[in-house]
Amino acid sequence: MRVTSNVLSEEQAAFLVRQRVARLATADGAGNPHAVPVCYSLAQSSIYIALDEKPKDVPVSHLKRVRNILENPHVALIADRYTEDWGLLAFVMVRGKAELLDPDTEEHTAAVRLLRGKYHQYEEMRIEENPIIAIRPENAVSWGALDKQGASGANVLDTIHGRRSVRRYLQKGVPEDLVERVLEAARWAPSPHGRQPWRFAVITKEETKERLADAMGEEWRANLEMEGQRAEVVEKRLEGSRRRLLDAPVLVLICLYLEDLDVYPDAQRQHGETTMAVQSLGAAAQNALLAAYDSGLDAGWMCAPLFCPEKVVEVLGLDARLVPHALLTLGYAEGDPPKRRSRKALDELVVYRD
Ligand SMILES: Cc1cc2nc3c(=O)[nH]c(=O)nc-3n(C[C@H](O)[C@H](O)[C@H](O)COP(=O)(O)O)c2cc1C
Repeated sequence: MRVTSNVLSEEQAAFLVRQRVARLATADGAGNPHAVPVCYSLAQSSIYIALDEKPKDVPVSHLKRVRNILENPHVALIADRYTEDWGLLAFVMVRGKAELLDPDTEEHTAAVRLLRGKYHQYEEMRIEENPIIAIRPENAVSWGALDKQGASGANVLDTIHGRRSVRRYLQKGVPEDLVERVLEAARWAPSPHGRQPWRFAVITKEETKERLADAMGEEWRANLEMEGQRAEVVEKRLEGSRRRLLDAPVLVLICLYLEDLDVYPDAQRQHGETTMAVQSLGAAAQNALLAAYDSGLDAGWMCAPLFCPEKVVEVLGLDARLVPHALLTLGYAEGDPPKRRSRKALDELVVYRD
């Protein structure tokens, strides 16, 4: 989204559009300051802030920020980016006058639409029933690397380049909110018709991991023996795989779920539909891996469930309509993270056709 304004430079506006949270400073009639974090949307000549239903103990009209604005319309809003790489620090501060938009006015309706466009959480909240704060910017100041992309400060390519498959973990638990962040990233993967043909099972208990490792190990042993592998090779590979499963503090099993997909009378289109679902599962897995890395976690991908899906469903007591495809291990890498595996050069992978 590109927003231009007389007060904000294009760079400042782009930075404000990208940030998810800002701080709104108001002051009462006597000049006593007050600041709160706010979600906001930027439009051509205003910044909008909803008075929403996040748990608050007073009616919106009693909120300090609202009372302050009624007493003294001068406000400041600051959005900033902090990262440990101080070369990426930046902020934009906008000063201006604030007013409260009454529900059912044209501008209020447009502001609600903008806010819901930026924050999907507002779709479930009745923000249209409360006034909206509109800041009319009068001046803006900024500092730092406004033009660097990425919500956390890391450029998305840095995250992609930095991630690598980890196969040995420290015995250190993973906070639940980080696991949820990983799952949240997976949830936002692109999917055919937006049907999200995947489900996730999170496994953290030792005994469940052991049951899973036993079930998958049995199948793998049978396959390796069938291939005529030497007994000690079979034992070594099975032991390695079992250790990976048991060492990883969290396992996320990604399953295909085809029930909501379209059904075709011909095999070719049906096959295409299933392939799209598998492609989408890969996208969900990659979202999860990148979010894990971005959250300071390490992760790995194990394909073992793909080769014994029914056994995995049975041993974990999952819905029989799920088809386990991939197991992601999550935790903190033991020792130095593995070296980055090299990649083919782009000119080996890409042709350009004008
Ligand atoms: C579909 C798929 C299945 C994979 N299965 C396994 C696996 O079973 N065991 C394993 O150690 N790595 C597995 N990997 C990880 C790859 O070996 C790894 O991504 C690749 O070697 C590149 O290394 P990097 O991820 O560190 O860049 C799998 C990756 C994908 C995409």
